[in-house]
Amino acid sequence: MRCGLLWLIGVLWMTLSSGVKTQNVKVLREIEVFPGETIHLRCQFVKSGSIKLTQVSWIYESPDGVRGNIAVFHPTYRESFPESAVKGRVRFVLASLETPSIEIDNAQKTDEGKYTCEYATYPSGQEVGTTTLTVLSKSNNSASPVTVRAGSSAVVVARCEAAQGKPAATITWVSSANGNYNSTSKEEPDGTVTVKSEYRLVPTPADNGREISCEVTQRTQDSFHPQSFPVKLTVEYPPSVKIEGYDENWYMGRADVALTCQADANPVPAMLSWTVASGSVPSTVQVYGNKLHVKKVDESVNTTFVCEVKNRLGSGKNQLTVKVFVRDAGGPGPATSYLLHFFTGVFFVLACYL
Ligand SMILES: *[C@@H]1O[C@H](CO)[C@@H](O)[C@H](O)[C@H]1NC(C)=O
Ligand SMILES: *[C@@H]1O[C@H](CO)[C@@H](O)[C@H](O)[C@H]1NC(C)=O
Ligand SMILES: *[C@@H]1O[C@H](CO)[C@@H](O)[C@H](O)[C@H]1NC(C)=O
Repeated sequence: MRCGLLWLIGVLWMTLSSGVKTQNVKVLREIEVFPGETIHLRCQFVKSGSIKLTQVSWIYESPDGVRGNIAVFHPTYRESFPESAVKGRVRFVLASLETPSIEIDNAQKTDEGKYTCEYATYPSGQEVGTTTLTVLSKSNNSASPVTVRAGSSAVVVARCEAAQGKPAATITWVSSANGNYNSTSKEEPDGTVTVKSEYRLVPTPADNGREISCEVTQRTQDSFHPQSFPVKLTVEYPPSVKIEGYDENWYMGRADVALTCQADANPVPAMLSWTVASGSVPSTVQVYGNKLHVKKVDESVNTTFVCEVKNRLGSGKNQLTVKVFVRDAGGPGPATSYLLHFFTGVFFVLACYL
């Protein structure tokens, strides 16, 4: 579609030009390739009247104006490829004077410039058509997270870059987070463009480990090639602490009960300590890391336990008040009354069925 349009523009442009005759030589006005691709330089002579074609040559002109012959076709002497930077990579598609299109393999940055399809004709003399070749550049894409602290204002949490693209790439972000982004582009001395984008967010502990994705799109000759770069966010926050394992059924003499101190923090906590409100941890209690183990419940654990956790960003603590009670010799304690309720329930369910 696009090539067709360029062909038309080329033809129109050639027809309107004056000077050296061009109306019979059809070429594309402009083409673009990426390094490594094959360059297709089309040329066709549309015969009119009794013009005789003697020979056709392709002339390359570098951006700084140096011209050289890269391919020649003569009906008798056939193909010839003079010494040039493209020698060995260039060939005629058909050995034909009317359609002397050529292909150049493995496009290089240095192949950029003008390619003229030049006919020697009789009796009108020289007739030419010129194609301008632009060698594009795939951008070098990368994305990375920025480690931040949880806070209440928006900060940059990830960056993405599409370096030295031609044409310039565009960057967007795909995310379930409620952030926003901006991009800037900068022209490089070699004619390429570097695009940078920053993703901003009010970082919360819940955003730690969240995956967002940078999408880089660069237009190529005939399609779009979006590329996705996932980024895992890193949000640091001080510990938040909770104490688990208390079932409200700590009666005098009960064996083997335990409390566990759970901390959520990034980075992982460097220190954890258990204390009791009434002084130091009773001797009936054993502490193993985040676990506090009571071999046998007595009055000494009828107190408030405090767990404090620290990481680089600060500390967090939580407390739990244990209520030790004495089980009546006859009457059921809370545990037995649970069981009693359970069995009463089962009994009623069974009674309904029967
Ligand atoms: C792309 O960028 C990375 C890091 O920014 C760099 O290490 C690498 O050499 C670059 N690659 C090219 C082909 O420029
Ligand atoms: C985004 O906008 C901020 C403030 O307007 C600016 O400081 C920053 O450089 C911009 N970042 C990019 C990558 O465009
Ligand atoms: C535990 O302490 C409470 C008051 O905080 C007290 O009422 C209760 O009798 C105590 N229990 C035991 C077994 O000492």
